[in-house]
Amino acid sequence: MALIQVGNQLIPCNEGDNLRQVLLDNKVPLYNGPAKVINCMGLGTCGTCAVEVRGPVSERSLPEKLRTALLKDRRLACQVQVLGDITVVKHEGMWGLGERVVDI
Ligand code: FES
Repeated sequence: MALIQVGNQLIPCNEGDNLRQVLLDNKVPLYNGPAKVINCMGLGTCGTCAVEVRGPVSERSLPEKLRTALLKDRRLACQVQVLGDITVVKHEGMWGLGERVVDI
């Protein structure tokens, strides 16, 4: 069992669960703006599911390494397995790469 903190929500999940799937299953608005309808559905190619993650998660997959090479503090939620209690923060912009944090 692991807990994901998103804003003031605490979402339980199993260790090894996919972060994107857990967030979407719990109605967390992971995508900003047009990315809500234009995204790669978890293939790791569009980059629009990028979030800041604090806590134990899986290593970066190859698609994620290629997509986030310049974004050391962001992870692609669709490529992340939750390995323990974590905190997730979403930033502004289509790709979630802005500095300002958005409420999700
Ligand atoms: S949903 Fe496209 S990279 Fe994650």
